[in-house]
Parts: sequence; C-alpha cells; structure tokens
Amino acid sequence: MSQENANLEARLEEQDAFEPPESFVEQANVTDPGVYEEFEENWPECWERAADLLSWDEEYETVLEDDDAPFYEWFTGGTLNASYNCLDRHVEEGAKNRAAIKWEGELGETRTYTYGDLLNEVEAFAATLRDLGVEEDDVVTLYLPMIPELPIAMLACARIGAPHAVVFAGFSADALATRMNAAESEYLVTCDGYYRRGDALDHISKANEGLESVEHDVSDVVVVDRLGDDLSHSLGSNQHDWDELMADHEGASVEPVSRDAEDMLFLMYTSGTTGQPKGVKHTTGGYLAYTAWTSRAVLDIKPEDTYWCSADIGWITGHSYIVYGPLALGTTTVMYEGTPDYPEKDRLWEIVEENRVDIFYTAPTAIRAFMKWGAEYPERCDLSSLRLLGTVGEPINPRAWKWYYKHIGNEKCPIVDTWWQTETGGMMITTLPGVNTMKPGSAGPPLPGIDARVVDAEGEEVSGGEAGYVTVNNPWPGMLRTLYNNDDRFLSEYWAEYSDEDADEWVYFPEDGAKLDDDGYITILGRVDDVINVSGHRLGTMEIESAVVGVEGIAEAAVVGGEHEVKGEAVYVYAIPEDGYEDQDDLDERASEAIDTSIGPIARPEEVIFTPELPKTRSGKIMRRLLEDIASGNELGDTSTLRNPEIVDEIADQVEAE
Ligand code: PRX
Repeated sequence: MSQENANLEARLEEQDAFEPPESFVEQANVTDPGVYEEFEENWPECWERAADLLSWDEEYETVLEDDDAPFYEWFTGGTLNASYNCLDRHVEEGAKNRAAIKWEGELGETRTYTYGDLLNEVEAFAATLRDLGVEEDDVVTLYLPMIPELPIAMLACARIGAPHAVVFAGFSADALATRMNAAESEYLVTCDGYYRRGDALDHISKANEGLESVEHDVSDVVVVDRLGDDLSHSLGSNQHDWDELMADHEGASVEPVSRDAEDMLFLMYTSGTTGQPKGVKHTTGGYLAYTAWTSRAVLDIKPEDTYWCSADIGWITGHSYIVYGPLALGTTTVMYEGTPDYPEKDRLWEIVEENRVDIFYTAPTAIRAFMKWGAEYPERCDLSSLRLLGTVGEPINPRAWKWYYKHIGNEKCPIVDTWWQTETGGMMITTLPGVNTMKPGSAGPPLPGIDARVVDAEGEEVSGGEAGYVTVNNPWPGMLRTLYNNDDRFLSEYWAEYSDEDADEWVYFPEDGAKLDDDGYITILGRVDDVINVSGHRLGTMEIESAVVGVEGIAEAAVVGGEHEVKGEAVYVYAIPEDGYEDQDDLDERASEAIDTSIGPIARPEEVIFTPELPKTRSGKIMRRLLEDIASGNELGDTSTLRNPEIVDEIADQVEAE
C-alpha cells in the first residue's frame, strides 16, 4: 500500500461521522432539514405528500382511519391501480421510450424493456391470466427467479386486481407447497430453470414436486422457458408455455382495474418465531405511496436515473425497491439474474460501468464478501457514475461501511443504511442522504413521520447511550394490514408487547434490539426473537428445528445463529442422537438434507454438532444464548443456573475441535 493510501485508511478508520458531499446535496430530492418538523406538526396529513406521488382514479377521503386500530386504513375512499401507476401514466406523459427494466442474464445476454414495451408485456400477461380464469382477489403464486417475467407477472396481477404471492426461487418444494396451501392459491407461474455460476439449474422439478403437496386443486400453471435446449421439460395437463400464451395475447388491451386503496396488492410470507410462515398482507394505496415516497426521499431516485438494487425480487426488498417504488417514480431499474462472482468477482462493477448506474442498493453480507475478495475488482471498472449507495437487511459493521464508502463510492457518495422489515413495507429508520450526517454502523434517525423509539422492557424510552428494543409508536402508510387469514396472530405478534389496549394506544413491536445515541441515531443490534438473519435472509429457527427433528435417528435439536464473517449470522444445529444412532456418520448430512427439503439451501447449517444433552435450565428450557455463544466463539456466560452445566464445556470443546 502506498503511503498516501495508508494515510487515507488511517483517517477513515478514525472518522465516525461523515457529511453528505456538497455535490450530492445540490441535486438531492430532499434537502430541507425542516422536513422532520413539518411531518411531526402535520401528522398524519403529512402523508398526503406520499399519496401525491401517485395517480388516483378516485381521490381518497381520509388520510388515516384509526377507528379499528391496530387495523389501520390509509387513504380510505381512494381508488387506484398499481400497474397504471408504474406504467401507463409514464407512457402517457411521454416516457414510452425510456428504459423501465434493464435486465442482464448470468450468461451475459441483456434485455431492455422500455416503459412502452413493459406495458405491452404486462397487458398481454394480464389478458392471459384473465383467460385462464383468474379473477379479482384470486391469489396468484409466482415462483420465479430474477428474470423479467417476474416483474411482468407481478404487474399483470396488479393490473387485474389479483394479489400476487412471490415465493423466493431458492425455497424448496415443501416451502412452495406450504405457502400455496396457506394462501389457497390456485394459480402458479414458474419456469423451467435458470442459470447459476454458468450451470443450468432445474427449477420445474422442484415446482412440480411442490405442487404434489398442494392440498387443493391448482387450476393452471404457466411455465416460462428460460433455458431453451439447456433443459428439456414436458408440461402437465394443466400446464402452459408462457411464450405460447403471450403470443396468443399479443397486442391485448387490458384496462387497469380500479382498486380500493385498502385492497390487497400482494402477500409475502416471512419467518416468525413459530414454524408456520406469516402471510404479510400489503395494500395498494398505502404501500405504493410509501414505497414511492421512500424511493424518492431516501434513494433519491429521479426518472432520468439508472438505479440498481441487487436484492432478489423474491424478498420484500425486491418488491419495494426493484419493482414498485422505482417504477412508480418512472426510473430505469436494473435486474441481474446471477451471482456476483460469475464469471469473475468484478461482475457487479461491470454492470455498474456498462449501465452507468447512478444509485446502488445492496446488503451488508454482499459488501463483506466484496471486502474479502479485495479492492482490485471494483478498481478494474469505472464506477464514477455512482451518486448514492445503500444497504439493507442486517447491521453493517463500520469497517464494511467504510470499505463501501471508499472503494465503491470513492468517498463522494452518501450511504443510506436502511432499517425496515417485510412487515413495514418500506424503510423506517435511516438518514436522508441530502440532509443528515452519516455515522457508520448506525442506521440513523427515524424517517420523517415515523415515531420509532428505543424503549426498555416497560416501554419507557431509554436515554442516549443505552440499549433497548425498537418500537414504532404511530402507524405509517406502508405498514402490513394483517397476517393473511390470521388477525389473531397479527395482534399477538406485533401489538401485544407494548400496546395499552384499554387506552387505545397501539405500539408496533418489530422484535429488534437497538441502541440509541445522544443525537437520536439508532443502531440496530439484531433480532430479539427466535429469528436469525443469514446473509440478509430471515429464517425461523423453529422451522429449521422441526426439519431436523423429523430425521430418523435425531431425538432432539436446537438451532441457533452464530456470528459469521461474511453471512452476518450462520445456522448452527445442536442435536441429540437417538439411542443406537450415535455412530452413524451420515446423520449430519441427513440433517442438512432435511433442511434443504423443508426450506432450501439458504438455511443449510454451517455445522451440525451432536451432543448427548443440550444445556437446560432447571425448568427444562434450552439455554439458546449459551449455544449462540459457543457457535460465535464468544466467552461463555453464567452456567450456574443450568441443570447440566458440565455439558457446556463438552460442547464447546467439540465445536472448537471441528
Ligand atoms: O433485524 C432486522 C434486519 O432484518 C429484519 C427484517 O428482515 P426482513 O423482513 O427479511 O426484511 C429485510 C429487508 C428489509 C429486521 O427485523 N434488518 C433489516 N434492515 C436492517 C436490519 N438490521 C440492521 N440494519 C438494517 N439496516
């Protein structure tokens, strides 16, 4: 390293606050610090600003309806269509030839859809869905990887008022079936396969296997032929080829259905404490307004930008900040099918260079991988088009933040560290890039209009420097409305902890721990429930446990998250073999396979540790905290309250040995 570089590194390492560069502020969408006060003084009417970013068929009458809290309603009386807002209105305003989606396949092929093209495709698929019998409010499951047909199908569903339920393509057959069963979804759109590290990956077999476990009749399955000759496949009796259906409906005109603001736009399943995934319901008006507003205020998106979020559309980040938010603002959104290191570790930076990307939004786990690979890869490419960087999904350590700032942003791009959840629909705690000082590692203050706090166990706000739990003490337009078909679980999961029902005071509990500083900045510490965050993917430990205990020869298991250099957290399984199975050396493999089958490779354990006992309290509760410490290599806490303290050292020795 040159002396100059070494000095620079040393300076960066010490610096704990960064001001947004002048050049950024000059052009930013939001630059007035008064926006916080304006929102506070004029709440909830302040949210009209978000609603004003949309085109409404029928103007709403009330901004917020809280009669039946916490079943809040936003923009009641208003009607609109999400696909109209993301497509038609831009075409009508003269942006027909502007690129809406720039897609790059892993093998290097590219496809650009202008707003005009995308509208045509969406109308053709909307007509297709109608012909198949899909009616308003029917849930359509989309089990697709990062190919343009996924956003096309989402927007086609939105156009005819059929909520979509996207299932991440990396999820297993069982996970698909569980979600289709829970949503009673009778329609599926999937594909033959996709490319990963240059190989053609079979997806249709997994989809078909999942369909066998769907408990109701599935009327129709549409299959995209992504792989051509690389994977020959045959279609079942109710299965149709996407291209054939699209050819039949080419040029179709489908009027966007006027939806009530509170009508469901989509369902997204996410993990919780218990085994059953939660069907998070998002609505048309509030969700779209909130994602558009945050895309504008936080991601600083402008129609002339090329914007790239490298998440997968199968997760909420992709829904809100690849598809709905950016397209509602009429910008160009980039999609990439593959992995960041194929064919080489500079693939993402090549895509930035080729597309002159202005804004890049990714996950800390990716940044930590880039760091590990080294700065030589981004240095190969011209990243000077970048104006703003973002991160989401897990805490970012200051070292990774600074690496991102220096090596990707060249010290001229602000970084927004955005805290939010599947349930919140959009960003909640983060800096406004044209307004606030950035502090590496800390997400920032709550966004204007968001009353997020850090509280103690009694719900009292903590002082600067103290840690506690995040709560959100007022509603916001992008919030989930309920858990699908499960209002009771909605109430117990999110509103039971801190609300005072008798006083009609409702407090949302996201189940995250956090620390507050003297400037009101919030540093997220991570989940406080039995959910772990592996590479930004949210996984329920109970779901993984139930897969493991289903394995013949495993009597009991505890699954915890342990710290991991790149993934943030990794899955650790501690299992007790049944009598007679102790010497079976394929037991760990079978445990991993069971997890693959029930959830998918994303939940694959880092290690399976067999032990004759699990550390338990005298009342028989497994001490997960100790198991987490062992997995993370941390110093072990107090074991004196255990029934079997001796087992802890035994397990720790074993983990160390491996
Ligand atoms: O623990 C928080 C973490 O991710 C959880 C939400 O996961 P999910 O619903 O899958 O949504 C991820 C994408 C929005 C949160 O409860 N999380 C999310 N963003 C951050 C974060 N932790 C720290 N910093 C963040 N910026």
